[in-house]
Order: sequence, then C-alpha cells, then structure tokens
Amino acid sequence: MRTLITTVVVAAMMGGAAVASAGPEGKLSVTSANLTNGENIYKNGKGSVPACQSCHGADGMGDDNLGTPRLAGQIFQFVLKQLEDFAADRRKDMTMFVMNDNAKGLTEQDRVDVAAYVSQLKGEWTPSNLEEIAKTGMPVGKTWLGKEIVLYGLPEKGVPACRACHNYNGRGVDPLFPAIGEQRYVYLVNQLKQWRDGTRANDPEVGGKGAMREVAKNMSDEDIYNVAAYLTKASPYPPGDRRIPSRHVPIAFVR
Ligand code: HEC
Ligand code: HEC
Repeated sequence: MRTLITTVVVAAMMGGAAVASAGPEGKLSVTSANLTNGENIYKNGKGSVPACQSCHGADGMGDDNLGTPRLAGQIFQFVLKQLEDFAADRRKDMTMFVMNDNAKGLTEQDRVDVAAYVSQLKGEWTPSNLEEIAKTGMPVGKTWLGKEIVLYGLPEKGVPACRACHNYNGRGVDPLFPAIGEQRYVYLVNQLKQWRDGTRANDPEVGGKGAMREVAKNMSDEDIYNVAAYLTKASPYPPGDRRIPSRHVPIAFVR
C-alpha cells in the first residue's frame, strides 16, 4: 500500500512571517509525497545519486566525522528548500562538495518524497560527543555561554537571541526556521562560519539583508563554538512539557 502525505504550503503563512520576502517560492501549492519512493532513495540512492544514508546515517541523525547534518525530524519545507537551493546552486555544499550533484540527480518529485521521508524519521537523539571532537583538533565551546546566546543573544555585538526566530532551544518553527537544537556540532559550526563569511547565502532576506548572515557576521569563533556546544544538547521539550514541537503541525497524512 502506498502512503501519501498531503502538504499545503500556504502563501498567506509566508506573507505573515517576519522574513517572508524571499522565502521559498511563496506560492499556494498542494503536493503529494510518496514516502515509499522517498525511503527507497534514502536507503538505496537513485541512478548516479548515492544512498543518503551512507552519509547522513541509517537513522538520519548525521555524522560529525563527515560533517553531515541530522535530517531526521527536520521541518519538511526547510529540507525541500535546501534540496531546491542545492539543485539551483543557490547553496553550495562546502564540506564534501556532493550535495549539489545529489540534488540535481533527483527529480522535483523525488526531492519532495525524500524530504517528506526524512522529516518523518523519529529516533533517539545522541548529542555530538564533544570530548571525541576535541581530540580531532576542533575547538569545543562552553555550553553555559552558548545557552546565554540562545536565550539572550550578545546585545553588545548586535547578535540577536537564536530563540527569537528558532523558538525554544532552537526547536524550529514551520516553515521557515529550521530546527537547530539537537543538531550535529560540526555541522552547526561549519554553517555559522559559512553564514559569517558569506559562502552560504541562501537565507531569506529581511530589509535587503540575509537573516542568518546578519546574525553571524559579528560572532567570534568562540561564540560559534559555545552556541554549537549548547545546541547539540538542547532538548526541544521544555521541562515537564512533552507536547510535539510546532514543526510537525502542517503535514497531514492521507491514506
Ligand atoms: C557523500 C555524502 C553525502 C551523501 C551521499 C548525501 N549527503 Fe546530504 N549532505 C552531505 C554534507 C557533507 C552536507 C553538509 C553540507 C555543508 O556543510 O555545506 C549535506 C547536507 C544536506 C542537506 C542540508 C540540511 C540542512 O540542515 O540544511 C540536506 C537536506 C541533505 N544533505 C539531503 C541529502 C539527501 C536527501 C541525500 C540523498 C539523496 C543526501 N543528502 C546524500 C553529505 C552527503
Ligand atoms: C532573524 C531570524 C533569525 C535569528 C535571530 C537566527 N536565525 Fe538562524 N536561521 C534563520 C533562517 C530564516 C534560517 C534558514 C535559512 C535557509 O532558508 O537556508 C536559519 C538557519 C540557521 C542555520 C542553518 C540550519 C541548517 O540546518 O542548515 C543555523 C545553524 C542557524 N540558523 C543558527 C542560528 C543561531 C546559532 C542563531 C543565534 C545566534 C540564529 N540562527 C538566529 C533565521 C534566524
């Protein structure tokens, strides 16, 4: 039996969000995702595109040794936007230089299907092993200093609180703001440095300026290590509240 997901990307939602101007297409569209095809691509690859799991893990939890991100449970629209951005060279894979070809090797429908598949993956999160990472020579930050940045930002440097856009502990907000809590340390560090030096510039613009490039431009290396060290361990659930984070809301199952 084929499982279908129906997603409705509502233009009005984009219009209502703070950084909507250059958001993904902003059109009203209804898309059906074929999870069976998504799973097949994820596990076996397709044509010249290797299996996603070979780098992102069978459980979709990413890998610090490869610098790959967790995809499991990430916001569907965000994953799809990244695949479209890679396919159109709006974003470049600066770590293994493979994602642009991977995205181009899939059809638009395949990208919808695999994005839907990974967004539905659930599993136990194991935070990045900071002791092991320190042994590789990558500096490791201080979680308590990172927590301050997530909660309050660095007002003296004009760095806003991550929570203001990415929600509680960076758990994400549909459809624009990805989950950055419980993400891989190495990936977070790489992305923040890329936003800072502009090698990643596919963020939506607010008042003509890239939302994340503005956030990262005044962060020091230490700030980046600190915030990443906190975020990899940051649970999306506030103490005593096991409600499902908002990122799962807009996807409705149709059998
Ligand atoms: C050879 C290794 C490799 C394979 C295979 C691979 N990826 Fe990736 N992927 C990466 C790396 C490395 C990055 C991080 C790029 C960077 O740091 O710039 C990445 C990033 C991504 C991102 C961005 C996520 C985010 O949070 O912004 C998505 C989405 C993604 N991959 C999906 C896929 C899918 C779907 C497949 C299978 C069709 C796949 N990847 C196969 C290595 C791989
Ligand atoms: C003004 C809103 C805003 C604030 C504040 C903000 N972000 Fe973001 N962030 C975004 C948006 C929008 C994206 C998605 C960019 C895209 O579409 O590729 C993003 C993406 C990211 C990503 C890439 C995630 C991925 O999976 O590829 C990281 C890492 C990140 N933000 C970290 C942070 C950190 C750390 C802070 C606090 C210091 C922060 N952000 C504050 C808006 C914001």
